[in-house]
Amino acid sequence: MPESTALQNTSLTIQADQPKPISSDLFGIFFEDINYSADGGLYAELIQNRSFEYTSADNPDWNFFTGWELIQDGGSCLVELADASPIHPNNPHYVVLNIDSTSGEVGLINQGFDGIVIREGEFYDVSLFARNLSGTIGTLTVRLVSRTGEILGEAALPKPTLDWAKYTTTIQATGGDNYARFVLVTSGSGALALDVISLFPQKTFHNRANGQRADLAQVIADLKPKFMRFPGGCLAHGDGLDNMYRWKDTIGPIETRREQFNIWNYHQSVGLGYFEYFQFCEDIGAKPVPIVPAGVCCPNTGAKFTGLWEQGQQGLPMEDMGEYVQEVLDLIEWANGPITSTWGAMRAEAGHPEPFGLKYLGVGNEERITPVFKERFKMIFEAVKAKYPEIVIIGTSGPRPEGEDYDDGWSFAQELNVDMVDEHGYKAPDWYWNNLHRFDSYAREGATVYLGEFAAHDMGRANTLRSALAEAAYMTSLERNGDVVRLASYAPLLAKQRRTQWLPDLIYFDNTQITLSVNYYVQQLFSLNAGDVYLPITIHMDTDEENIAASCVQDTTSGDIIIKIVSRSEVPLAAGIDLSSVSTLEPFATCTVLTGDPLAVNNPNNFWRPVSVLPETSNMAISSVFNYEIPAYSLTIIRMSTSRSV
Ligand code: AHR
Repeated sequence: MPESTALQNTSLTIQADQPKPISSDLFGIFFEDINYSADGGLYAELIQNRSFEYTSADNPDWNFFTGWELIQDGGSCLVELADASPIHPNNPHYVVLNIDSTSGEVGLINQGFDGIVIREGEFYDVSLFARNLSGTIGTLTVRLVSRTGEILGEAALPKPTLDWAKYTTTIQATGGDNYARFVLVTSGSGALALDVISLFPQKTFHNRANGQRADLAQVIADLKPKFMRFPGGCLAHGDGLDNMYRWKDTIGPIETRREQFNIWNYHQSVGLGYFEYFQFCEDIGAKPVPIVPAGVCCPNTGAKFTGLWEQGQQGLPMEDMGEYVQEVLDLIEWANGPITSTWGAMRAEAGHPEPFGLKYLGVGNEERITPVFKERFKMIFEAVKAKYPEIVIIGTSGPRPEGEDYDDGWSFAQELNVDMVDEHGYKAPDWYWNNLHRFDSYAREGATVYLGEFAAHDMGRANTLRSALAEAAYMTSLERNGDVVRLASYAPLLAKQRRTQWLPDLIYFDNTQITLSVNYYVQQLFSLNAGDVYLPITIHMDTDEENIAASCVQDTTSGDIIIKIVSRSEVPLAAGIDLSSVSTLEPFATCTVLTGDPLAVNNPNNFWRPVSVLPETSNMAISSVFNYEIPAYSLTIIRMSTSRSV
């Protein structure tokens, strides 16, 4: 590392006498079911393909039996897919075991999502639907079995009846294994129908039934996001009109939900559905930001087969739009309506009588701004505004922070008086540094901005410190423009190791480990150190000015003043910080620094050193003017107390 360079005339001056209110919801998270974020990820279900709804539409190599194996131990068994008289029309397929096993055992094994993690002493809820179609089927035994064949717990379920019935039991694990399997066996002679076979840990985040994986949910909660966007991204508008994420298909008992393929080449059980999303938002203190389709599907529909990118947009037939608009209105009633309303009653029945307090609603995800889109968006927008004028509607401006859709999306939003516009952009680190003044010139009247997807894409799309610092620098400009930029979220949030379609991401995980990227710490530090007032900060430097970004906010609840300084200089810089405009400053501060080699990454695949960059916090003495050495390649957060707000 080069030696420290003490620069003359380097100063950061805070003008506390010119406070500007900014968004108090600025930093949130973008959750998309990409990279196995939901099934096999945040959603705590341990059985893969529990409803036998996998098809080659999910993935060309998959079918209804993917994830399952047959056991024939002393008997014979033929397995087939059936769809006559299913449990629910939304869940049309089930498996039939044609069994001839009066002496041995036959049954099914499920390997989970790359193995099932079973922890000794913990409780696991098993539930399944079964039906004795013909002959006489014996009792059902469910087991947790280690990779070496040790039984880690088992329970018996009664003989299935002639009609569909739900069977439940709980197993306490007597041992643990990270690659366990779930086994279901029976005996007898006849045909056994099975569906919705679930294995769920009782220990979930906030102990919610049908809830979230506790450790993964916790690192998300630790970001303290002010809002959470869901379910996408491209997943929201879907790969074709039939693949749109329709919220009503995702609520109610899991056996009544309509599963479908995932645009990212896997499956959506929608076990993590709208109720669970809203509940999770509440549990982590984040405002829900659902994104509903704008009546059009993803412009990249079919492109993975045709290679025709951004040319696949289709609109719902206009004769279906009335019903679709009602579906969007029903969502608002479901989220916010009293329990005496039709949809509010359904929310209450699901276990949440209190309204969820929906404030923001995204309509569409990075759309092409075509006549087909405009016609449908306008219908939805006008209907929502007429019935629920208090809802902040977020429109769209295409996939890039420039270009035709960006221009047309903004013009259209202004024409309609849309509240907020969703901008997306994935760019190289330098782009963020070169665009620190982008939002300074945005109009202060009319639509505000939701920077819904952003991330600095460095070489190899690695989560380098350099990329994280570029995001940090840009985020100082978001704070400065927090009067017009109201929401911002890094994207995507989660990525399962070896199941990843998109890099970079914020949090990497497998079934047992979680690695937090350097970029995660940047998001967390901004979120934990957010303010609701911006205090202008002036930077004077002889050289290196293009390598420094800074912001200053105040959290008026605590009175704390927070300075953020980002440097991509390769040398430490000596700076004077002038806070003489703050008359009530306490003489101490905490100083948190994230620094290291610009190419350093927190890499889960590096066995010896998975985490190489972590923030470090120390206390420092300050006065109204004090010196600070800005480390090379760093983000510094200086948090200062005041005896009252400025
Ligand atoms: O964040 C990943 C993808 O990037 C989103 O699904 C899409 O909106 C964008 O193109």
